[in-house]
Amino acid sequence: MKLTETQRKALRVTVDYTNMTDKYLGDKGYSTKKIDGFKKIAKAAHAYVADNRGKDELFMGWTELPYNQDEIVADILATAKDVRKKFDYFVVLGIGGSALGPTMAFNALCHLHYNDLPKSKRKGPKFYVEDNVDPVRMKELLDVIDPKKTCFNVISKSGATSETMAQYLIIADLLKAQGLNIRDHVIFTTDAAKGNLVKISNELGGIKSYVLPDGVGGRFSQLCPVGLLPAAVVGIDIKALLKGAAYMDKLCKSADLKKNPALLCATLQYIAMNEGKNIGVLMPYSDNLRYVADWYAQLWAESLGKNETLDGVPCNVGQTPVKALGVTDQHSQVQLYTEGPYDKVVTFLSVGSYNEKSPIPHGCENIPDVSFLGGHTMEELIQAENKATAYALTKAGRLNYTINLPEVNAFTLGQLLFLFELQTAYAGAMFNINTFNQPGVEAGKKATFALLGKPGYAEQKKELDKADSDPAYVV
Ligand code: PA5
Repeated sequence: MKLTETQRKALRVTVDYTNMTDKYLGDKGYSTKKIDGFKKIAKAAHAYVADNRGKDELFMGWTELPYNQDEIVADILATAKDVRKKFDYFVVLGIGGSALGPTMAFNALCHLHYNDLPKSKRKGPKFYVEDNVDPVRMKELLDVIDPKKTCFNVISKSGATSETMAQYLIIADLLKAQGLNIRDHVIFTTDAAKGNLVKISNELGGIKSYVLPDGVGGRFSQLCPVGLLPAAVVGIDIKALLKGAAYMDKLCKSADLKKNPALLCATLQYIAMNEGKNIGVLMPYSDNLRYVADWYAQLWAESLGKNETLDGVPCNVGQTPVKALGVTDQHSQVQLYTEGPYDKVVTFLSVGSYNEKSPIPHGCENIPDVSFLGGHTMEELIQAENKATAYALTKAGRLNYTINLPEVNAFTLGQLLFLFELQTAYAGAMFNINTFNQPGVEAGKKATFALLGKPGYAEQKKELDKADSDPAYVV
């Protein structure tokens, strides 16, 4: 996708915060004076992120991904072509940051019923992301794929995540049992030098492997081989994805929050969080974008949910991300958003032009309740409902703002992802926390090791064995 400057501007992702202001929300909204009062803290957060860009030791390598992957992208495109030629199924084995990005991009940019399309209408093999160890799901995946015709992309930075490694053991065993060579059916995406997948690769005489760079954490990894290889396999324009990210990076150069969309979003959320708005709803009005809300939930929750500042001062910060889908959840959650507690900020993801319009035919002329729909399009209907919901929330004094995507394509998705990543980094800097670690996730991983008898966790196992339910409290 080659774009002129004019085309890029036409595809620019923008933020509309009208419905966060006192002009529209009355005393529930934020005045210009109030927002401007946060300019200094926003400027400091911007400086922190700008000064530490690309620093692996701070896990900020992700800022450079739009610029430093030419060779890797070329290699990925060649591998993807080969995978498409040889395989009918492509299965990602990973969890958390290793799975949410691939799922999100696939759903956003491929046909919503991709796997059901005939081969001639798909750009690549059937695609699955297995991010759970539900035994039923594992068995039922194996019911629908043929290992002989499957490429498994095992994605794990550590190679020590129980879920991913259990899946790997199952498929390695299966491949062996069918007389297949693991090396012909597996691609690893992992750390450059450390971790168990590196050891396994060496033992097997070298598995095709992509590097999950040192300074890139799981939840910031969609724009590195973690996300790029699966995306390329299903025919997504990964160069356009990266160009979109670079474009948003450019749009976020200013330290003035009114000129930097990511800094604006971070500041608005920061003000809200400081006022106890502990729930952040992300509500895309697009089925293609529904898993953006899942991806964002991890990014926002794991990055900001922390209990101490970088100076060691105890704090309990963060905002609970809630995933909603427009219009579906208008008929489920919007009642709560409109009349329940004043504890939320709703972010809409709106689409300017859908890739399909779906005209609604005239009919039922004697039933005005139905006939008014005829002559409109489904696009008009979903956009009207989006606008109507924002209006209703605003009338009810509820904080909401809209991120507008002129259309859904690789270039706009790249912009959106980078906007959210920068927003998260800025918000973390405002709280002065470590945005890029996840000690709470590690704690659960270690307890699982103990429960399943991993050497070195005997003490924790004893403690866990004692922690069984107390029958006095089981009803
Ligand atoms: O954001 C994160 O760091 C986590 O969600 C990890 O991606 C997840 O736990 C998987 O870890 P690994 O890549 O080591 O298998």
